[in-house]
Amino acid sequence: MKDIYILGIETSCDETAASVVKNGRQILSNVINSQVKIHAQFGGVVPEVASRKHIENIALVVDQAFSDAGLEYADIDAIAVTNEPGLIGALLVGLSFAKGLAWALERPLLAVNHLHGHIYANILEHEDIEFPAVCLVVSGGHTNLLLMEDINNYQVLGASRDDAAGEAFDKVARFLGLGYPGGPAIQKAAQKGQAGKIKLPRVFLDRHDYEFSFSGLKTATMNMKKKMEQAGELQLWDLAAEFQQALIEVLVEKSLQAARQYEVKSVLMAGGVAANQQLRSLMEERAQSQNIKVFYPSLGLCTDNAAMIAGRAYHDYIRKSYAPWSLNAYPSLSSW
Ligand code: KG4
Ligand code: ZN
Repeated sequence: MKDIYILGIETSCDETAASVVKNGRQILSNVINSQVKIHAQFGGVVPEVASRKHIENIALVVDQAFSDAGLEYADIDAIAVTNEPGLIGALLVGLSFAKGLAWALERPLLAVNHLHGHIYANILEHEDIEFPAVCLVVSGGHTNLLLMEDINNYQVLGASRDDAAGEAFDKVARFLGLGYPGGPAIQKAAQKGQAGKIKLPRVFLDRHDYEFSFSGLKTATMNMKKKMEQAGELQLWDLAAEFQQALIEVLVEKSLQAARQYEVKSVLMAGGVAANQQLRSLMEERAQSQNIKVFYPSLGLCTDNAAMIAGRAYHDYIRKSYAPWSLNAYPSLSSW
């Protein structure tokens, strides 16, 4: 069979990314232009600034993806682009560019759901995933526990009722004065402290369902900080460590509970929060004794990238499930 080369384009948030993936598996290039330093000055992503930066960067990033892959534009079989969910202005930059390129090159356009892309990062790197599997999606905007029959079938077992896990990391980091992005900042601070010295709630852990809530934990962390400050004994590192532990314990326990209930042997993790070292090791430690295998992407593929988009799109390409020229972008997740 002929080799298939797909160009992926990702601009859903603050990374302008392009990648060429061969046959849905082999990453030939993976270019990421991060705007994190620009947004860090504002303590979070400024959507208008993100869109403008994508416009400045997109052509250069795509060009780099071709030259890193050692390919010409004409060598590509299809162009894939993230069209939901994300910042609408940011998504539209990638979508418009992808449409223009696909039209000019006379190649099919493929639409990829950003979260399907995050999940696919696991498939890109691991050949031994057994389905059905439970998948924990934890990004800046989403927290979902899914049962996957295969890579095209997702059943939602539960979701966060309020803040997403990454959002909670970002908001708490800001409140604790640890900077942006919050996840890596809290992880670093937590390494200097010890969880358990301060007690924070494991929200919804006692409920035997797959719903999550992180807004209460965020408020409890903020209140604890104020209380400690008033008493003149703020232990910032211990507080960061306890917050991180309280959040990830719930993620780990609910994921493994789902794996037991649905009798699956694989748990996948996807999205930016899956980069968290403590989450990875706690999930592995607790899964091991239950004979469950844990999979997560390498650090570079956990956070936003276009290789996951190009890879995922291969499966739509071979089914000829092309996107229409009228394809639009959507800020929210329309469906799984
Ligand atoms: O998947 P992602 O790159 O973008 C979205 O699709 O939202 O996720 C970004 C989120 C941010 O909230 C960031 O703080 C979090 O992932 N994150 C982490 C870590 N690295 C990134 N959270 C916890 N620990 C980390 N090491
Ligand atoms: Zn993402």
